[in-house]
Amino acid sequence: MGIDTVKECSMLKIGKLKLKSKLILSPMAGISDLPFRLLNRKFGCELAFVEMLNARSMSYKSKKTAQMLISGSKDRPLGIQLLGSEPKFILKAMDIISHYKFDVLDFNAACPVRKIVRRGEGASLIKNPKKLNQLLGLIVKNSAVAVTVKIRTGWDKDSVNARETALYAQDAGIDGLFIHGRTRMQGYSGSVDYGVIRDVKKAVSIPVIASGDILSPQLAKKMFDETGCDGAAIARGALGNPWIFKEVSAFLKNGRLIKKPDINQIIKVMLEHLDASIDFHGEHLGVIRFRKFFSWYTKGFYKVRCFRKKTSLAKTRDDMVNIIKACHKHVGEHGLS
Ligand SMILES: Cc1cc2nc3c(=O)[nH]c(=O)nc-3n(C[C@H](O)[C@H](O)[C@H](O)COP(=O)(O)O)c2cc1C
Repeated sequence: MGIDTVKECSMLKIGKLKLKSKLILSPMAGISDLPFRLLNRKFGCELAFVEMLNARSMSYKSKKTAQMLISGSKDRPLGIQLLGSEPKFILKAMDIISHYKFDVLDFNAACPVRKIVRRGEGASLIKNPKKLNQLLGLIVKNSAVAVTVKIRTGWDKDSVNARETALYAQDAGIDGLFIHGRTRMQGYSGSVDYGVIRDVKKAVSIPVIASGDILSPQLAKKMFDETGCDGAAIARGALGNPWIFKEVSAFLKNGRLIKKPDINQIIKVMLEHLDASIDFHGEHLGVIRFRKFFSWYTKGFYKVRCFRKKTSLAKTRDDMVNIIKACHKHVGEHGLS
């Protein structure tokens, strides 16, 4: 192994959970359903997360929550992420999820959505590291599995406090820390602050898993090199691109870029993903959920805007398959980009 390659083959340990890969599929609300997780696992993802669960709404036992929790033997190891700020709802949610099989319980202190932070949940908790410490202490005390927290670098550029937040979180007895290298005010744009992640890594003794702009093998390596993080969580880089797990893994091991999938491989995966989405959600919702994936799978393709527009009207499997086939033919004639 070259001296400047990341030790992708060494292990990442979160509590009792031992992972062979340092790459994790980051939770994404509205995206990380069972078909999406299984597809990414096929391409080398090891630990994946269920879509974020709101502790308060879980106490109403909605059908949607029950569906989010559906998993299977091939969907392992698996993490669940909880959002909340009130102990009674968090404990109730933990009681519900204790009936499910999963390996990591992550607590969300990173979500930037306005209606969530207004309720004192998600990223608003980084404004109050002591409260976060108390909530995490309660979760650790009542959890049978490894507990982690996801934080951001701070609320805004004038209040970057990830180091302090991470120390309070560690003090609660958690087994690992995820950090999205942006402030709450940045949302999902602007540059990732590698320096703050590095400071957090230096300050704590628990594993630090970094998130933010891991969109390519080179950016993954940059994250490891610049921060010294123990693991990396991939989010938008996996949208329409499950190949990223193999690509990053190979690059970290030997610095080589593997061949990109050709159009036939992309179309095959699109059709598989569409069918899995329909099997899981039913035809109507399965097709609707797949619409955005069509755009992601075809990102950068030559003149495909008209096909994307058509998907917004697709209602049945046949509608979507016809668009995918027409797009395949178009790319066959004009090339990928
Ligand atoms: C559509 C979408 C939904 C997301 N939902 C969640 C979520 O429920 N929980 C969470 O911790 N992060 C969520 N994130 C944040 C990602 O997990 C990740 O931390 C962030 O996008 C930065 O990584 P990236 O730049 O590689 O996308 C979401 C991101 C996106 C794009």
